[in-house]
Amino acid sequence: MGVLSVQNVGVVYPNGTQALKSISFEARPGELIAIIGRSGAGKSTLLRAINGMQPVTTGKIMLDDIEITALNKRDLAKLSKEIGFIWQEYNLVNRLSANMNVLTGRLGYNKNIFGYFGYFSKEQREIASRSLERVNMLHRAKFRADRLSGGEKQRVNIARAISQQPRLLLADEPVASLDPELSWTVLGDFARIAREEGVPTLINIHEVELAKAFTDRMIGIAKGVVVFDGSPTQLDEDAMDRIYRFDKDQTVSASLEAQHSAVGQTQFIAEGA
Ligand SMILES: Nc1ncnc2c1ncn2[C@@H]1O[C@H](COP(=O)(O)OP(=O)(O)OP(=O)(O)O)[C@@H](O)[C@H]1O
Ligand SMILES: [Mg+2]
Repeated sequence: MGVLSVQNVGVVYPNGTQALKSISFEARPGELIAIIGRSGAGKSTLLRAINGMQPVTTGKIMLDDIEITALNKRDLAKLSKEIGFIWQEYNLVNRLSANMNVLTGRLGYNKNIFGYFGYFSKEQREIASRSLERVNMLHRAKFRADRLSGGEKQRVNIARAISQQPRLLLADEPVASLDPELSWTVLGDFARIAREEGVPTLINIHEVELAKAFTDRMIGIAKGVVVFDGSPTQLDEDAMDRIYRFDKDQTVSASLEAQHSAVGQTQFIAEGA
C-alpha cells in the first residue's frame, strides 16, 4: 500500500501539445479519488504518467520513496506489477477462462517457467479465487473470457488487478462501455473493494453523478491544472464551472458582442433608412 505524491507535473507531447501544465496532489491509503475534467483535459495522460508509461516534462511523481518519474525501463517494468491498471477495454485473453486471466495477471510474480503452462502454486490459485469472489465472479471462473458479458469482463479485469495486490490502483474510464445500471453496480463493487483493500485508487470518469455517489474525493482538472480538490458535497456549481465551463464567460461575452454588433448594424440600417 502506498502514498502517491504528484508534484507540479507537466506533460508536453512531442508535437507540442501541452496536456498538463502543473498538477499536484497526494493520494493516501484507503482514498478513492475520481479525476474529472472535459475531454482532452489530460486525465488519461495523468494516469499514464503515474503508471510510468508517459514521461513527464516537468515535476515528479513519487510512490512512497520511489520516484516513478526517474526510473529506468527495467525498474518501471518491475513497478508496473505493483500498480493495478484498469482500462475501459477489458484486455482479457479471450480464449482463456476468467480464472486463467486472473492468474496470468500474476505471472510477473511467478518466476517458474511452468507458470506459462498453467501450473500455478496453491497460493496463487487461492489468491485468484479470492479475487474473483470479491467481485462476485467465482461462479464464472471456468467461463471463457469471450463468453462473458461486458460487466462480467470488467469484473474479471478488476479481479485481475486486485490479485496483483497492488500498492496503487488506477482506472481509466472503467465503466464507459457499460450501460448506466451496470455502470452503477460495477463502480459500486470497485469502490467497495478499493476501500476494503485500503489501496489508494484513482478513477478517471465522465459520469459526475456516479462518481459523486461512490468516491470520497474528487479532483477536477482544467487547462492543465487542478481547479478543484474536495469532497463530492463540495462540488458545487461554481466548481463545475471551473472544471467544465471555464470558457463560459468568454462564450457569453462573445455572443453578447455579436448581439451588440448585430444591434448596432440594425440601428445603423434604421438610421440610414
Ligand atoms: N500521443 C499524443 N500526442 C499528442 N497529443 C496527445 C497525445 N495523447 C493525447 N494528446 C493530447 O493531449 C491532451 C490530453 O489528452 P488526454 O487523452 O490525456 O485527455 P483526457 O482528459 O483523457 O480526454 P478524454 O476524456 O477524451 O479521454 C489532448 O489535447 C490530446 O489531444
Ligand atoms: Mg482519457
